Amino acid sequence: VLKAPFVAGNDGVGVVVKVGPGVKNLSENDWVLPYKAALGTWRSLAIWREKDIMKIPANLMPMEYAAMMREMCVAYRLLEDYGTLKPGDSVILNAANSTVGSCVIQLCRMLKLRAIAVIRQRDVPEFEETAGRLKAMGASEVLSEGGSLKAKLDENKFFAKPRLALDAVGGASSAALADTLQDGCPLVVYGCMSGKAPQFAWQQWTFKELAVKGFNLRSWMAANKKKARGFAGRPCACAWLF
Ligand SMILES: NC(=O)c1ccc[n+]([C@@H]2O[C@H](COP(=O)([O-])OP(=O)(O)OC[C@H]3O[C@@H](n4cnc5c(N)ncnc54)[C@H](OP(=O)(O)O)[C@@H]3O)[C@@H](O)[C@H]2O)c1
Repeated sequence: VLKAPFVAGNDGVGVVVKVGPGVKNLSENDWVLPYKAALGTWRSLAIWREKDIMKIPANLMPMEYAAMMREMCVAYRLLEDYGTLKPGDSVILNAANSTVGSCVIQLCRMLKLRAIAVIRQRDVPEFEETAGRLKAMGASEVLSEGGSLKAKLDENKFFAKPRLALDAVGGASSAALADTLQDGCPLVVYGCMSGKAPQFAWQQWTFKELAVKGFNLRSWMAANKKKARGFAGRPCACAWLF
């Protein structure tokens, strides 16, 4: 928890305008991303320590996309680290129209995975518009939250049971995702947009052998310092998104 007053903002991309004494690996005009959480990026000028930021190649992608590196990294790690997925497998995710969700869907298309995108209920024209956009990105199915997602997939004759569920909503939405999973496959909680803790029925633990995991990018970065810095610095799959 930050003490007020503070500058908000975790994400962003900056240009080095001046380096102080002792700075080894950064020079003026370098592009940098925040490496440390809560640096306060909602400002135009800041003084930060070299170890709290990381250099990225300026020609990797447009500045707007570089500022979304956090979301791209989350999407990549979620697909890479869980579920041992192979082409043809299905992945189900809620908050699918979020930035992270859009990245997951596009990565799924590149990896030949089938993305089942779950979005909040909205009126028909808005649903059609959002579903069209997500399908254009690569989603195989787009479903509305509420009721049984498993029943909706059966109704649509979509029988490839997901091998991975990605939950950014919590509450009843988590259990609805879990219901669709193949037995023993993981559900990864990486956000809680509803503000309600995920709820699972005891049958999901005992009969489906539900495996619930948690993911947090900052913890991953702390545990994988070398990989994390290399990830942003190399033209990786994420650079091709959008
Ligand atoms: N674990 C990590 O390291 C990590 C890192 C980055 C982000 N995240 C998480 O990833 C998720 C997406 O982040 P983002 O920046 O990509 O989000 P975003 O682009 O701001 O989109 C927000 C999404 O949340 C949905 N949403 C908002 N309130 C909701 C509610 N009460 N119930 C259900 N859905 C709701 C929105 O749906 P509508 O369009 O219907 O409003 C939208 O899909 C967040 O939960 C965030 O905390 C986690």
